[in-house]
Amino acid sequence: MLQIKDLTVEVNGKEILRDLTLNIESGEVHVLFGPNGCGKTTLLMTILGYPGYKVKKGCIIFKEIDITHLPTNERVKLGMGMSFQHPPEIRGVKLGDMVKITLGKEKREVDKEVIALARRLNISTDFLSRDVNLGFSGGEVKKSEILQILAQSPEFIMFDEPDSGVDIENIELIGKIISELLDRNKMPSKRDRAGLVITHSGSIMQHLKADRAHVMIDGQMACSGMPYEITKNIMKNGFEKCVESCKN
Ligand SMILES: Nc1ncnc2c1ncn2[C@@H]1O[C@H](COP(=O)(O)OP(=O)(O)OP(=O)(O)O)[C@@H](O)[C@H]1O
Ligand SMILES: [Mg+2]
Repeated sequence: MLQIKDLTVEVNGKEILRDLTLNIESGEVHVLFGPNGCGKTTLLMTILGYPGYKVKKGCIIFKEIDITHLPTNERVKLGMGMSFQHPPEIRGVKLGDMVKITLGKEKREVDKEVIALARRLNISTDFLSRDVNLGFSGGEVKKSEILQILAQSPEFIMFDEPDSGVDIENIELIGKIISELLDRNKMPSKRDRAGLVITHSGSIMQHLKADRAHVMIDGQMACSGMPYEITKNIMKNGFEKCVESCKN
């Protein structure tokens, strides 16, 4: 579904990603680990085509189409979506209206559907009448992001730290919803979607049933392997030692 080849990316004249290669097949979920500031969010923003992330070298192929220089809206139309680490506050736009527009259905059916989606995330209806992310707590911002992704239901979904700042009970809820969104409850042969999830915590991992994990260091993929082993290795030994042992 997604092929990234030799990708080098600059932000504000500074090289952040270097010769990065990544392949995600349809039906797969990959997890991306790495220390703060190594370039994880930069990779996701570049895949989405966010302005300011300049591809200096390499290419991004999505569903066999070269999207390296396509604008974000075209990429989204092709079927990708993202739950942001730090989404913007949008004054004057109600969360419920945002979700309705994203669902893109007839007015009569849509109100019920928005409420049903919000219920799945334990989001109260008065929350839907607030401006998107304005004054939301850390955990509420994450739920608002997941709610919008649920409505959009894209084929390829990137989650940038969906669990950060989320309490234990809600991590379980968010983990289950992400797992459903990414077809994890279906048999492998019936999975059509794919995902790339950035996380710093092990607790969401048990819900993701990821296929592969990667460790990014200084804008490069330093090692890849089985999610359970990589997670255990990082928790026990830290990023650098994990990468060292990967190479040996
Ligand atoms: N607009 C910008 N101007 C200058 N430097 C930037 C800009 N955006 C990102 N960077 C730098 O690029 C590097 C990678 O940032 P990025 O947000 O991708 O890291 P990350 O791996 O997602 O970190 P975290 O785990 O803390 O979220 C950081 O050093 C950051 O300061
Ligand atoms: Mg980040």
